[in-house]
Amino acid sequence: MSDRKTAAELIHHPYQPPAGFAAPVQAVHKASSIFFKDVAELQRVRWADRDAYTYGLHGTPTTFALEARLASLEGANHVLLAPSGLAALNLVNQAFLKCGDQLLLPDNVYGPSRNAARHELANWGITHAIYDPLDPADLAAKLSPATRLVWLEAAGSVTLEFPDLTGLIAAVRANAPQALIALDHTWGAGLAFAPFELGVDLTIHALTKYPSGGGDVLMGSVGVRDRGLYEQLAAAHGRSGLGVGANDVELVLRGLATLPLRYAAQDAAARRVAAWAQTQTAVAQVLHPALPGSPGHEYWARHCTAAAGLLTLRFQPEWNRARVEAMADALKVFKLAWSWGGPVSLAVPYELAHIRSLHRNSGTVLRLAIGLEEPEVLIADLEQALESV
Ligand SMILES: Cc1ncc(COP(=O)(O)O)c(C=O)c1O
Repeated sequence: MSDRKTAAELIHHPYQPPAGFAAPVQAVHKASSIFFKDVAELQRVRWADRDAYTYGLHGTPTTFALEARLASLEGANHVLLAPSGLAALNLVNQAFLKCGDQLLLPDNVYGPSRNAARHELANWGITHAIYDPLDPADLAAKLSPATRLVWLEAAGSVTLEFPDLTGLIAAVRANAPQALIALDHTWGAGLAFAPFELGVDLTIHALTKYPSGGGDVLMGSVGVRDRGLYEQLAAAHGRSGLGVGANDVELVLRGLATLPLRYAAQDAAARRVAAWAQTQTAVAQVLHPALPGSPGHEYWARHCTAAAGLLTLRFQPEWNRARVEAMADALKVFKLAWSWGGPVSLAVPYELAHIRSLHRNSGTVLRLAIGLEEPEVLIADLEQALESV
């Protein structure tokens, strides 16, 4: 993480201030209409080339600046913005899938992505299958000549299994060379591992989480290296109305300067909370990919130099749903809320039986997203909540 000098690159990214003015932050440009000097220019410029402006929906100097920084953060050649992480996921599906295609999703995929496959994509004649993220042979067995897109998520949602990325990518390349591989890279935030070096075709980010860091912005991005794939994505983006507001883009640009610091702090704090949770008799298992024994820990150790600030607690069998929910209700510093990556620590209970389909899973787990409070304050809050029930 440190040898790439990510923070310095994000802060000193090239931009051209107006003559005579130099400051750390660039101006925020807003427009729907953008003026052309003549008809020839109006007819010539292509926004997808990212060197000219056509219409506010398709980019301004502010959105192009964020795209360029995100591209350098994870080594993509092209980045497109979307109004949320979920919109970015759906843009990839929309750009590359057609009736008759098959889509593959890991069992620990972000829930709304699975629901989109069950509903909208199914209505459009696109089938999907769910594979075990820890078993490349299971993925290989589910690939077919109709497979066009395989999603990866590392670590997976809620249960945080870190997949065998190399094994999964090799299974797709060997058995379904026609398929594209897309990674939901939100957990890694462009910092924990390098997915393009591993061979994925596309990444998406929920910039809503770590890149924004404030808990006050919704935004997503798609990154790609291949020019042909970018052209396809840009065409679909241009037909979809996926505009982002300049003020929100400004907030994410501001957030990027502190992203490596915040990510490292939340990583360290989550590991402290995880280590404490492992000593609690009520807790049967702490799911966090950097912990030995957590599912996929060996793949996390192989691919990653850091971890996000997420952990999930599995409780002893006598901790039924009502008890876990009562404990969550007793939390004071942790707030009950979706999302992660912001300053406030968040907790959400999940029923495993509702969110997994491959293996028999039951029990109520508690997903914790660590914010920027002192870890001892968070541990004291968890301690009092456990005691209260
Ligand atoms: C792994 C993952 N991907 C994508 C998303 C969607 O992001 P957004 O909330 O910006 O739509 C989320 C949101 O929680 C997520 O956890």
